[in-house]
Amino acid sequence: MAISNQIDKEKLPRHVAIIMDGNGRWAKRQGKNRVFGHRQGAKSVKEIVRAAGEMEIDYLTLYAFSTENWSRPKLEVDALMSLLVSSINSETKELMENNVRLLSIGNHDILPKNVKKKLYEAIDQTKNNKGLTLVLALSYSAKWEIIEAVKKIAQLAVNQEIKIDEIDECIIDKNLSTHNIPHPELMIRTSGEFRISNFLLWQLAYAELYFTNKLWPEFGKEDFFEALLDYQNRERRFGKTSEQVEHKI
Ligand code: FPP
Repeated sequence: MAISNQIDKEKLPRHVAIIMDGNGRWAKRQGKNRVFGHRQGAKSVKEIVRAAGEMEIDYLTLYAFSTENWSRPKLEVDALMSLLVSSINSETKELMENNVRLLSIGNHDILPKNVKKKLYEAIDQTKNNKGLTLVLALSYSAKWEIIEAVKKIAQLAVNQEIKIDEIDECIIDKNLSTHNIPHPELMIRTSGEFRISNFLLWQLAYAELYFTNKLWPEFGKEDFFEALLDYQNRERRFGKTSEQVEHKI
C-alpha cells in the first residue's frame, strides 16, 4: 500500500516544524559548490510544501536561515538571500493557487531591504488564504525570540500593566513571535544530526522529534509521509501514564 494511504488523516499533527539540514554536504558529494546544494534544497522546500498541503496540515514551519547563519561566508549568505527573493518571486503565484498563507518569524530588522520588501509583499498578498500556513524562520533563533519576549513582558511590568505573579505560560506564549500559532507536535531534522540548534526551544517542549539521515535536497514527499506515519505510531503522554492516556483521565 502506498505510504500516503497508510496515514490516518484524523491523527495528523496540526503543526510540523523542520530543520532543513545537509545542503552543503549533498553538494559536496556531487562535487559541486554549497550554493548548488541550497538551490536543490529550494526544490525540496517546494515538494514538502505541496505534500503538507496535500495532507491538509495546518502549519509548516521551515528553518530557512538562522541568526548563526549570518556568520557564514558573505558569498554564501548573499546567495541564500537571492535564492529567497527568487523563490518568493517564482512561488507566490503557486502559493495563491494552493490557498497557502505565508508568515515569517525572526529578526527581520537585519534582513537586506530588498529581501524584507519581497517577503512582506508576499505575506500581504497571501494573508487571506485559508489553507496551509507556511512559516519561514528567517534570521531566527529561539534565544533571540525569548530575549525579545522577556523585554516585552518586563516593559508590561514596568508600566504596571501586569503584576510579576501574573506571568505564566500564556503570557510568554503571547509575547513570542509564534503567538496565534499552535506549538508543533512534530519536529523533523534531516542529515543525521541530533540537535535542536536554537530552533523553537519553548514551542518544542512536547514535540515528537524525528531524525533522518537523508540530506535535505534528497528529502521528498515519501520521506515526509514516512515521518508523519512514524509520528502516528507514537503515544503522546504529556507526562501522564499510558493508562491515563488510554482512558482519557
Ligand atoms: C542547511 O544546510 C540549510 C540552510 C542553512 C538553508 C536552508 C535553505 C534552503 C533549503 C534553500 C532556500 C529556502 C527557501 C525557503 C526557498 P547546510 O548548508 O547547513 O548543510 P551542511 O550542514 O551540509 O553544510
